Amino acid sequence: MASLGTCATSDCGKEAKLQCPTCMKLGIQGSFFCSQECFKANWRTHKVIHSLAKGEGIDGGKKEDGGFNPWPSFTYTGKLRPYPMSDKRTVPSGIMRPDYADHPSGYPLSEQAVKGSSQIKVLDDEEIEGMKVACKLGREVLDVAASVCDVGVTTDEIDRAVHEACIEKECYPSPLNYYEFPKSCCTSVNEVICHGIPDMRPLQDGDLCNVDITVYHRGFHGDLNETFFVGNVEQKHKDLVRVTHECLMKAIDIVKPGEKYREIGNVIQKHAQAHGYSVVRSYCGHGIHRLFHTAPNVPHYAKNRAIGVMKAGHSFTIEPMISMGTWKDESWPDKWTAVTADGQWSAQFEQTLLVTDHGCEILTKRRNATGLPHFMDKL
Ligand code: MF3
Ligand code: CO
Ligand code: CO
Repeated sequence: MASLGTCATSDCGKEAKLQCPTCMKLGIQGSFFCSQECFKANWRTHKVIHSLAKGEGIDGGKKEDGGFNPWPSFTYTGKLRPYPMSDKRTVPSGIMRPDYADHPSGYPLSEQAVKGSSQIKVLDDEEIEGMKVACKLGREVLDVAASVCDVGVTTDEIDRAVHEACIEKECYPSPLNYYEFPKSCCTSVNEVICHGIPDMRPLQDGDLCNVDITVYHRGFHGDLNETFFVGNVEQKHKDLVRVTHECLMKAIDIVKPGEKYREIGNVIQKHAQAHGYSVVRSYCGHGIHRLFHTAPNVPHYAKNRAIGVMKAGHSFTIEPMISMGTWKDESWPDKWTAVTADGQWSAQFEQTLLVTDHGCEILTKRRNATGLPHFMDKL
């Protein structure tokens, strides 16, 4: 039998052998435990996901928000709602950790030390090799997320699979505790633009779910994301995802030494606008290597004033967020979840790139026969 992973009890760490029978009946995937003892010890919190899957309140009554509304006076822009979160996950001490992992406020002091500088690091051969390895591992973790993402699966279950895959590959999941981000990846559903926090909401037929993975391996970060289809997706949402991916690929096409970082936004907005979509302005691509987010800043919108010219040995991300309505974003009171201001849906794709002598290498590229993103497997 295939491995069921580790016990769903946080910090248990034992191999899972049993699946919750109620979850099996309800079609909730995951929920594996090592023993009856662990299963019983978790029952009070575990049973909440049964109610949520049935669209009931936590205490049994039918409620639109599953009986959970942490911000009663907040006006949501769309239909998505937050759900309860699982406990904080831990990373074994043998895995190399970034500085912010152990900072009480999650501050990345090494990043803050060079904040405001527009100087772009040129990687040496050893650093390039370090980035290649980290990015390849990040890709493998994203492929695990893609295999788990389906109708009825909670985004917390995706986070668990991502967290365990990171540990197995000797990686620290970069988002965990970064400015106190509580989880190991970002899961951004429907009107969520980016930085969605994995929670107990079961994915629904027709959802779009972006999973953004960053791993830290032996001193280097690799960052990528894809938007996945959950079950049967409406044609208008499939079109959004396809065009968003095209925006990323057209931008990657111009990356070469001598090109200005500010040109990337012109290419992306031209294509998005031609299809009637808008480009999110608040979140940008970024330099990445020993630091998670650093120079250059890479806006995805046209006529931006980004500083810098590409040079062989630069590593950075392009990660356009494209929306069906307004480009304007706002944040949930959790201070992370960025949603469209009009509640219309948004999609995103991200790759980490290395500028080479004559163009660039996509360090986080998919390493199958086609190299195409996962949503195209389902077209
Ligand atoms: N991976 C995201 C990016 O593309 C950053 C996530 S930071 C987190 O830059 F704290 F939200 F995880
Ligand atoms: Co990024
Ligand atoms: Co990312």
